[in-house]
Amino acid sequence: MSEPRKILVTSALPYANGSIHLGHMLEYIQTDMWVRFQKHRGNQCIYVCADDAHGSAIMLRAEKEGITPEQLIANVQAEHSADFAEFLVDFDNFHSTHAEENRELSSQIYLKLRDAGHIATRSITQYFDPEKKMFLADRFIKGTCPKCGTEDQYGDNCEKCGATYAPTDLKDPKSAISGATPVLKDSQHFFFKLPDFQEMLQAWTRSGTLQEAVANKIAEWLDAGLQQWDISRDAPYFGFEIPDEPGKYFYVWLDAPIGYMASFKNLCNRTPELDFDAFWGKDSTAELYHFIGKDIVNFHALFWPAMLEGAGFRKPTGINVHGYLTVNGQKMSKSRGTFIKARTYLDHLSPEYLRYYYAAKLSRGVDDLDLNLEDFVQKVNSDLVGKVVNIASRCAGFIHKGNAGVLVAGNAAPELTEAFLAAAPSIAEAYEARDFARAMREIMGLADRANAWIADKAPWSLNKQEGKQDEVQAICALGINLFRQLVIFLKPVLPLLAADAEAFLNVAPLTWNDHATLLSNHQLNEFKPLMTRIDPVKVQAMTDASKEDLTASQTDTGEAAAPQGNGELTKDPLSPEIEFDTFAAVDLRVALILKAEAVEGADKLLRLTLDIGDEQRNVLSGIKSAYPDPAKLEGRLTMMIANLKPRKMKFGVSEGMVMAAGPGGEEIYLLSPDSGAKPGQRIK
Ligand code: MSP
Ligand code: ZN
Repeated sequence: MSEPRKILVTSALPYANGSIHLGHMLEYIQTDMWVRFQKHRGNQCIYVCADDAHGSAIMLRAEKEGITPEQLIANVQAEHSADFAEFLVDFDNFHSTHAEENRELSSQIYLKLRDAGHIATRSITQYFDPEKKMFLADRFIKGTCPKCGTEDQYGDNCEKCGATYAPTDLKDPKSAISGATPVLKDSQHFFFKLPDFQEMLQAWTRSGTLQEAVANKIAEWLDAGLQQWDISRDAPYFGFEIPDEPGKYFYVWLDAPIGYMASFKNLCNRTPELDFDAFWGKDSTAELYHFIGKDIVNFHALFWPAMLEGAGFRKPTGINVHGYLTVNGQKMSKSRGTFIKARTYLDHLSPEYLRYYYAAKLSRGVDDLDLNLEDFVQKVNSDLVGKVVNIASRCAGFIHKGNAGVLVAGNAAPELTEAFLAAAPSIAEAYEARDFARAMREIMGLADRANAWIADKAPWSLNKQEGKQDEVQAICALGINLFRQLVIFLKPVLPLLAADAEAFLNVAPLTWNDHATLLSNHQLNEFKPLMTRIDPVKVQAMTDASKEDLTASQTDTGEAAAPQGNGELTKDPLSPEIEFDTFAAVDLRVALILKAEAVEGADKLLRLTLDIGDEQRNVLSGIKSAYPDPAKLEGRLTMMIANLKPRKMKFGVSEGMVMAAGPGGEEIYLLSPDSGAKPGQRIK
């Protein structure tokens, strides 16, 4: 056997301001399967990740929630870690970019770059929010599109006509944070001189580090000529202050990839046998791979290797890029219930179903991958339950009943075990190349052969015949052995199934090399069902719950909705029937709108102060799109649900709900009682 390889692997660091969804999971599952495969083969493979905790988005969200950024990122880190663990993503370390190791490494790398002359400074002019006293990134500026005149467009592009422009081109610009009109202001910025690395990057990106399609894309950028990269942001900013430059912070994307190193460093600090320099030093012989999505290629294949080179570290062995996840052939959509959070999935389905489905569809390209929910049910049920687990459940009973659970010695079909043995190198090669789809196809091909052979031998018929018991035992013993081989091949994808199978087989944890042996004269443990079929009802429940997430998250943040449709007001035409008592429990009242105002920082929300007879209520309602001039609502009567549990939302507590109908957008109609109704009157 050759020397074990030393491999360090990362997945992109998820932003610490939102939940993990099934799109993210494509990346973490892909990486985890590859890492598990390497470990299964006996290589030293270390998998690190972290939350990406810096930037103005995180600062602003913490502010809105009324907590410190540190509290926010600690909460999110706990949530992310739990999601990953339940999806069986087995990081060796999951750290945070807001950590001392990262501060030190970021400073060190910056100072090396600066001292080597790779940092430039110059003044730039940008929009500044005079109320919030902060410079505004493009996405925090809104205004009227200079091309087509559509209102309420972001600072860099128009959703209506697709035009791209500079924020200074917007007509009637407004700060999306405070609503104030921004002013132009100068400030000194720091730039990383990427063009210094043009030649190195030209060679490095063509040296087998990138998939062909990615290398071609990068070549276009290189041919167009590289620009200096702005790596500084002004206070207030949540991040690391630049050494010797008070009030200036590293842009989040400067310290984010350094977070890979910092997470590994943190692991080294508590693992004596791990040596940081052996993996990151200029002369390291270890392999280093970053798994990322196609949207962040420039940061990883241009800026990052240039930073590493300039600061005297080794560069990555490979950047492994994957495409985007679509669900049912379309972009994930909150209103269709296909924007599925990791947690919502886990509430309804086993993680291994998704791991297998992703494996079956992932190859080494950068194409998007579609999670078709019908195909998902069908494929998992037919392959895992119908083919793999079926072999064990068909054979185990005969062995337990006929031979006290002991596998007899011998090999009832050497041509089959030969075929399994012969397939192993090709399956391993497919895993190594991240062509999981091919690996799964080959494994299922073997499972088909095993099932066909068992069906042909029909031990269930033989078992009824006199004098055929030895044959039945020989067939079923081989069946169990073939099942064991399949489990060995599938273990990187299905670690839980493998653990349950190991318990049933009564064997130590299986490793790849175990595929070359067979169990004989071996006592099995009791057989318990290893995997159940996916019930499509659960998939439906998951998408329904994702639609509920939408309603919840919209009222929670007022901002989370996807731009398309105003799904929040469209309800299924077939709402389930409710009992009269349920209806009678709703306290429906006439309410007088005393005050109506826009909620600062929220796109869709109005804050209503309501008089309901004996008391006043504050209600946050997502109806701003229909009432751009909220003051006009003041003095008007409407209907409210007065005994809804108060909801704590990002912008305050909402003490009830007002009633409105309509498809959304400008077409939302607040309900009113006939004239003469008095505030506080109840519906009877
Ligand atoms: N914080 C940055 C990465 C910094 S790495 C030094 C970031 N975070 S992210 O949370 O937006 O995305 C994390 C990873 O998930 C990225 O690789 C991204 O491409 C991937 N995905 C996010 N949404 C995805 C899909 N819908 N489909 C597939 N991958 C997706 O980017
Ligand atoms: Zn436009």
